[in-house]
Amino acid sequence: MKALVLGGGGREHALVRALSLDPGVTDLHCAPGNPGTSEHADNHVINPVDGLAVTELAARIGAELVVIGPEAPLVAGVADALRDRGIPVFGPDQQAARLEGSKGFAKEVMEAAGVPTARSRLCRSPGQAAEALDAFGPPYVVKDDGLAAGKGVVVTEDRAEAERHARECGRVVVEEYLDGPEVSLFVLSDGAHALPMLPAQDFKRAYNGDLGPNTGGMGAYAPVSWAPEGMVDEVMETAVGPTLTEMARRGTRYQGLLYVGLALTSEGPRVVEFNARFGDPECQVVLDRLATPIGGMLQAADVGGLSPNTKLEWRGGAAVTVVLAAENYPGEPAKGDPISGIEAASALDGAYVLHAGTAWSGVRDLTSAGGRVLNVVGTGDTLARARERAYQAAERIELRGSFYRTDIAERAAGDAG
Ligand code: AMP
Ligand code: GLY
Repeated sequence: MKALVLGGGGREHALVRALSLDPGVTDLHCAPGNPGTSEHADNHVINPVDGLAVTELAARIGAELVVIGPEAPLVAGVADALRDRGIPVFGPDQQAARLEGSKGFAKEVMEAAGVPTARSRLCRSPGQAAEALDAFGPPYVVKDDGLAAGKGVVVTEDRAEAERHARECGRVVVEEYLDGPEVSLFVLSDGAHALPMLPAQDFKRAYNGDLGPNTGGMGAYAPVSWAPEGMVDEVMETAVGPTLTEMARRGTRYQGLLYVGLALTSEGPRVVEFNARFGDPECQVVLDRLATPIGGMLQAADVGGLSPNTKLEWRGGAAVTVVLAAENYPGEPAKGDPISGIEAASALDGAYVLHAGTAWSGVRDLTSAGGRVLNVVGTGDTLARARERAYQAAERIELRGSFYRTDIAERAAGDAG
């Protein structure tokens, strides 16, 4: 199979790596990719949001599978353009991707499908927002209705801040606060059948102890062994199944990856959000544990090929990833600084490094080129061992001004031993 991955971050490096380990994948391409993906794939300099450019590239290389990594191409309709040309694609059509692209739409679908989630109201004016804030009380949760790259959600005790965010965004969803630890569950869907992957946990705040600003994610681990027994089955039954049925009923069959962001509240799991693609960096640890070759699975999602008998096999043990971030992330990050120590880090048993925001400068000097620069992955029989390896490897990397959280998976590893 010839495969093309769209995107250029750590998630896409993990996808390219997983596809490179699939014996059925004979030819691998990435666009635009990064220095890490170029180890396994041919990188192509195109804009992944440009449907025409993507379709032309896919046709030219004879792609039999295009895997769309980030949300922007999905929301821009790149999957539709590929399907129109008869090119198999892993990722939902533009209309189906609205489950991520519009918070209001996602809430409407969840309500129609009876999915357990926070009560909410779509507000079109500051007055409506104020009424909703009164109705739900603090902590206040205000979400920009549109796609905002993780920056559109404000959770605060501060009423003035909540009102300011509502005013600045215009159309917002105001909702009830959900209390409880968060878990990310990825589901492969062919529109009718769905296969859950291993649950993972992400660390969204910039600094240790869940302090500091929200980020795209500073680290992750899988599996989540402390999750209540039967959680995945319950979520598949109460949230995923009804959502896929409702989407099909609306004529927008959902094919691709459904990311279910959950809060495990005292009343059971509640859906915080849907995303239309793999979470980054959770994808990195989940794919690390996947034993089933991934190419055929992703292709099957496009053609209604995930039968109820299809099973995913998982490796035992655990994986942890630690995000090495550039100075000043998640603000305007420092860029263009030299990176060293990746070989030394990867030389450690059970550890490797994925590229997220890196670039070549000059002939072959690796430099930083984004906020989240590297994802250091550690694996092991236990979560504690995986974590230890990830941090031993991270210590070997040098990048001026960079930082990482030192408490990724700490609590879970302590609980699990
Ligand atoms: P979203 O983009 O909807 O996932 O929101 C981003 C983050 O905001 C989530 O991962 C949660 O940490 C937080 N969040 C969103 N909605 C709620 C809610 N109803 N209650 C508590 N926290 C929330
Ligand atoms: N790590 C969270 C996300 O990808 O949305």
